[in-house]
Parts: sequence; structure tokens; C-alpha cells
Amino acid sequence: MTQEAYGGQKTQEGKIPAAFMQEGPIEEKADKEKTKNKFLELDRYIDIYTKEPGQLIIILKKAQDIFGYLSEQVQAYIAEKTSTPVSEVNGVVTFYSFFLTEPQGKYTLDLCTGTACYIKGAQKLMEILKDSLQIDAGETTQDNLFTINTTRCIGACGLAPIVIVNGNVHGNTSPDEIKKIIRKCRKGEEIADKNH
Ligand code: FES
Repeated sequence: MTQEAYGGQKTQEGKIPAAFMQEGPIEEKADKEKTKNKFLELDRYIDIYTKEPGQLIIILKKAQDIFGYLSEQVQAYIAEKTSTPVSEVNGVVTFYSFFLTEPQGKYTLDLCTGTACYIKGAQKLMEILKDSLQIDAGETTQDNLFTINTTRCIGACGLAPIVIVNGNVHGNTSPDEIKKIIRKCRKGEEIADKNH
């Protein structure tokens, strides 16, 4: 990734990527406005956290909270604003598995593939997820509803097998239960933390 991914122009508020400063059709303009506001929100965190050295991970985490994932453009923006080489920012992003570089679906299904979960049937759950959603681990459905991810042991082996739905841990998940979770997500129903 190069610094050119960033582009941008100086504004009163800060240096926002150029693509979000141009006029266009109304919907496009609204989207750009939203994105511009996200960069402005990120600016506020950068201002706070660049006061002390060694805060890059916190800034990246805040950026992921704001944008949902860390695109090349966002990484380059942070590099520019924090005077950090883009390669260093990208190195941190790719080192830590909790940083995402691709957009995620509305529902992220993180399946634990640690030993205890594997023994208790995680592989079967993965087969069901792949079959039902027609995607592989690390992919998002075309309607942007689901993303399947895998995770290493989260230290709750007593609840194996575990699937984490949008950050909520579901333990002792049976094949029927994973199907039920998918059905509920499709209907937009709320999914309780454990007793779904
Ligand atoms: S192996 Fe899945 S929580 Fe430990």
C-alpha cells in the first residue's frame, strides 16, 4: 500500500480524502457526507491519542469502530495524520487478528476453531454455516448480511463449541442451534446471548 491511497486536500476541519470533498448526485452526496463525518470523528481521536507516543493500536481500534474495518484508505489516512510510515500502520493491522481489512456483513459469525471446540463439533458447525450461506470462512454474503470468520481459543473451552455472533458468545452450540441463529438473523430477530 502506498501513501497515494490517501490523496486528500486541506480543509478547515482537517485533511479529508479528496473523493469525499467532491459534489455529486444527492444519494452519493449523502454517503460522502457520512464518510466525511467519520473521518472528522477519527480526527478527534487522533488528536487525543497522538499526544502520547505508542497509541497507534488504540487509534486503529477507534478507526475500526467508526468505519467497521480498516481499508487501505483509512490506514493511509492514519499514517499521514500520525506521521507514521504506511508500511508500519499496515504491519500492525495485519499482525493483529482482531483488525479487519474487509467490510463485514451485518451479522458476523466467528467460529472458534480451538482444540476443545474442534473436539466438540466446530467442524460440523462450519460445514452448516458454509452450506447455508454459500460462502467460505473469511467471506461475506453478497447481500452483506453474513460474514463467517474463525477465531482461536477465546478461553471459554467449558462452553465449547462456541460461535460468537456480533461479539456475543453462544456456548454449547449444537447444529440445530446454529441453524436457528441463521434463521433468526435472516428474519432480523434479536438473538439472546446464550439461550437463543
Ligand atoms: S477452544 Fe474454543 S473456547 Fe477454547
